[in-house]
Amino acid sequence: MDCKVIKQLELRTKSKQISLGVLESGHVCLLYFGDRLAEKTELSYVIRDIQRASYLSDTDGERDFRLEQLPIWYPAFGNPDLREPAFQIEYENGSRISDFRFYKANYRNQKSKIPGLPSTFSEKAVTTLEIILKDALTENRLHFFLSAFEEYDMFTQSIQIVNDSRETIKMTKATSLSLDLLDDRFEMLTLVGAWGREMQLRRTRLQQGFQGVDSKRGASGHGQNPFIALVRPETDDYQGEVIAANLVYSGNFIAEAIVDMHQNTRLQMGLHSFDFQWDLAPKESFYTPEIVFTHTNQGVNKMTQLFQHFYLDCLINPNFTKKARPVLLNNWEATYFNFNRQKLLALGREATKLGIELFVLDDGWFGERNSIETSIGDWQPNEKKLGSNLQLLIQEFLDIGLDFGLWIEPEMVSPKSQLFTEHPEWIIQVENRKPQLSRTQYVLDLSQPAVQDFIIQTIKKILSENRIRYLKWDMNRNITDSGSTYLVGHQKELGHRYILGLYRILSEITTAFPDVLIESCAGGGGRFDPGMLAYTPQIWISDDTDAVQRLSIQQGAALIYPNVCIGCHVSAVPNHQVGRMTSLHTRGVVAFQGNLGYELDLTTLEETEKQQIAQQIEHYKRNRQLLQFGKYSRVNTFDENATAWMKEDEQHLWVSYVSVLAKPNTVPKRLKLPLLVPEQRYMDEQGNDYSGTELMTIGLPIPQVKEDFIATEWRLSKSN
Ligand code: GLA
Repeated sequence: MDCKVIKQLELRTKSKQISLGVLESGHVCLLYFGDRLAEKTELSYVIRDIQRASYLSDTDGERDFRLEQLPIWYPAFGNPDLREPAFQIEYENGSRISDFRFYKANYRNQKSKIPGLPSTFSEKAVTTLEIILKDALTENRLHFFLSAFEEYDMFTQSIQIVNDSRETIKMTKATSLSLDLLDDRFEMLTLVGAWGREMQLRRTRLQQGFQGVDSKRGASGHGQNPFIALVRPETDDYQGEVIAANLVYSGNFIAEAIVDMHQNTRLQMGLHSFDFQWDLAPKESFYTPEIVFTHTNQGVNKMTQLFQHFYLDCLINPNFTKKARPVLLNNWEATYFNFNRQKLLALGREATKLGIELFVLDDGWFGERNSIETSIGDWQPNEKKLGSNLQLLIQEFLDIGLDFGLWIEPEMVSPKSQLFTEHPEWIIQVENRKPQLSRTQYVLDLSQPAVQDFIIQTIKKILSENRIRYLKWDMNRNITDSGSTYLVGHQKELGHRYILGLYRILSEITTAFPDVLIESCAGGGGRFDPGMLAYTPQIWISDDTDAVQRLSIQQGAALIYPNVCIGCHVSAVPNHQVGRMTSLHTRGVVAFQGNLGYELDLTTLEETEKQQIAQQIEHYKRNRQLLQFGKYSRVNTFDENATAWMKEDEQHLWVSYVSVLAKPNTVPKRLKLPLLVPEQRYMDEQGNDYSGTELMTIGLPIPQVKEDFIATEWRLSKSN
C-alpha cells in the first residue's frame, strides 16, 4: 500500500493534538487525535500498518493503495473511496466526482470570522492551520480553517469551497467535519426528545451502518440537538475516552457515526444534504458552518466542562460572559393572553416585593392578539389592553423598581394580520399551493432581503423607542411548504438562506443594541444550539416547567451548554403541562440549576408562599455568581430516581440533590462527591468540616424523604 507520508501537519492545544499526514499522492489523512504527544512524534506508521482488505479499488493505478481503508480528512465520493463522502459537487457535464489533493498549508496565530455565519473567538492564544486542497481538473479549492484554542483544549473547523473554474457548480453536500477513526468500539451520545421533553440523553452502542441524529425541520429542533459524542463502552462521567462535536448552526443538520465493513468509524457532522443544493458561480465561495469539537480521556463530565467553559468565554456576547443575569417574572403562565394594565402592574408590584428584578411581558401585547389566531407581524402595542402606550407602561414598571422585557416572534406572520394582507409574497410557500398553518401562523421567508430589513427596522424601532433591557425572541413553528417566491430557480437554497437571513438580522440587532439581553425560544428548546447562543446568551429550554421533568431536560442541556444560558422558571402547581404537584422548595432547587425566573400568578399566592419565594430569591442572589458561573459537575447518585449536581468556584461548593420517588422504610444514605481536591477543607452551613477525601469517599448525609419527595442543597465554604 502506498501510504508514504511526505508531511505531517500538527495542531496542538495545551493537552491535545491533531496530526494530519499529507501522502505522496496528495491525499490528507487523520493520523492522530488525542492527548498531546512529544514534539515531532512521527506517526506515519499508523496508516502504513493497515492491512489490505478485499474487493476495494486501487488509487492512481497503484495496486493495493486503497483510500477506502485510510482515515481520510474530508473524503470525496467514488474516487475511489465508496463510503459516505464529506461533500459532493455536481459539475455541468453531470459528473459528481471530485479529486482534491494537497496544495499548501499555513499557520496563523489568530482566527478569522466566517462571512455571514456565527463563530467562536478568543482573546487568548489560538492557532489556525489553513490547509488548501486543489482539484487539478477544475482548479477548484477547498480551504480548511482548523483552529486550536490552546487554553480551552477545544478545536473548531470551517471550510471554504472556492469555485475557481469557469462553470457554475452545484454543491449538494458540505459537512463541517469528517473524522475517520480506526475502530468501532464506541457508544454514541446524542440529545433527543420532543416538545416539552427536550434534551434527553441517549447512549447507544455503534453498529455497522448508519446511526445519528438529524433535522429536516428548518430549525435544529426539539427532537434532536446538533451534538454527537463517541465514548468507549467503559467511559463514564469521570473517566474514559470521549470525542464530541457540536455544530454552530440553527437549521437543518446531520450528525452521524457510520461504521464501515472493516470496523472503522466515520464521524460526520454539518449541514444536512437532504433538500439542499447550492449553486456556486465562478469566483464565488461557500462557507460551511463552524464545528466545535474536542477529545478527552477524563470522561463525559470533563467534556461538559470543556464545552461550558469554551462557550462562556468564546461564543456568547462578551457583554454577558460574566454579567449577573436578572431574576425575572414572566407573565405567560400567570395570565396567558388574559391580562390588562391593572393585572400586569399588580404582578409587577408583587414581584418587586419578593426581590424580582425584571418583568417580562410575554405574548399578547400587540395588534388584536388575544389568542393564537391573529396579529403576529403587527408589532404595534395594543394601547387599549395596555392602558397606555408602551413607554408609559414601561415607566410604571421602572417606577416600581423593575426592568422591562418584551416577547416578540419576528420570524412569523398570522394570516389575520395587516402584514400578511400587505405582503402575502413574504411567506414561505410553493407556487399554486395553499401553504399549511401551524399554531395559526405562517413563516416569513427570511431569504428575502426585504423581509430581513422589515424585521431589523421593526425591532430597532421598538428597542430605540422603549427602555427595554431584555427581549424574548420566540419562534413557534417549523417550516413546511419549503419554497420561496424570491429564490426562483434556487429553491433548495431556502433552508440555508433562511438561517443566513436570521443570522444577519440577529447580528444587526445585537450590534446596534449590545446590552439588550436576548433570550431565544422556539416553543421552548426547539432551537437550542450554539448558532443561537452566539447572539442570544440565554435560551428558554422547555415549555414544560414541571420540576421533575425539568431534571432530565436541564441536565441534558447542561451536557454541553453553560448553565447560565439555560432559562429555568419556578411555575405554579398543579403544573400546567403535566398536572404534577411539587413543593415550592423542590421547584426552587431545580430552577437554581440554571438561570432563575418565576412564571406564575404571584397575586394568588398565600403569604407563606410569598415569604418562601422571597427567601429563595435572596438566597439565589447571595450565591448568584457561584450558581450562574460556577464550574458545573454532575454527581452520580447511583439511583435512577435521584439527580444531583454541583457548582464550584474559588471559595464555595454548591451541591443539589433531588429524589423523585418517596419510598417507605429506607435508612439514611450519603451522597459521595466527585472531583474534589483531597486535602481541601469544606465547611457546611451548620459548621461541619470535611476534607475533600471525606466528601469523595464518605459523602454528605442525604435527608430522609418527606412530603412529596426530597430536594436538598448544601453550600460549603472552602478553607485551608
Ligand atoms: C411559546 C413559548 C412560551 C410563550 C408562548 C407565547 O410557546 O415557548 O414561553 O412565550 O410561545 O405564545
